Amino acid sequence: KPSLEDFLLSAIRTIPDYPKPGILFRDITTLLGNARAFRRAVDELVHPYAGLKIDKVAGVEARGFILGGAMAHQLSSGFVPIRKKGKLPHDIVRVAYSLEYGVDEMEMHRDAIRAGERVILVDDLIATGGTAEGAVKLLQQMGANIIAACFVIDLPDLGGRSKLEALGVEVNTLISFPGH
Ligand code: PRP
Ligand code: MG
Repeated sequence: KPSLEDFLLSAIRTIPDYPKPGILFRDITTLLGNARAFRRAVDELVHPYAGLKIDKVAGVEARGFILGGAMAHQLSSGFVPIRKKGKLPHDIVRVAYSLEYGVDEMEMHRDAIRAGERVILVDDLIATGGTAEGAVKLLQQMGANIIAACFVIDLPDLGGRSKLEALGVEVNTLISFPGH
């Protein structure tokens, strides 16, 4: 019987040289399209928080929306989208975050989280942690109590997990690809 990690690993597709030469792109669309793998991934993502009161799951655009919506349903919590700039219609908080090359901005509605609410952050993958760090800053700005950040895939050699842990955020991941 394969381990959970092997099962999920086999459901993820790796595309060499995408989006540019030398990058191995970890494509989770095959996992999302596989009924057993999608259910298992969501079950494992929520497992650490089963029985805890979670007010909101905050998902990072775009793949964090898919996982976060399913997690929020299972945890009976609300869902909060953290979006690329310019997409949200109401009053927002904004943060600049670092990408591999350059910076971008992401936004969240000001009234999406109330101070003290218990929040789980989710995205498909953590690499350098720049994206997740930006999301953590937005949530902290609104006074969120961040219970954990979770990801299907960790690229540990890029340091994202350590970066979040240094901010005092618990990190949970399902699959690790060392050597990036
Ligand atoms: C990918 C991935 C994470 C982020 C992780 O998103 O979905 O959100 O990179 O990288 P980091 O830990 O180095 O910040 P991407 O920026 O490619 O945008 P997308 O999700 O909109 O495709
Ligand atoms: Mg992303």
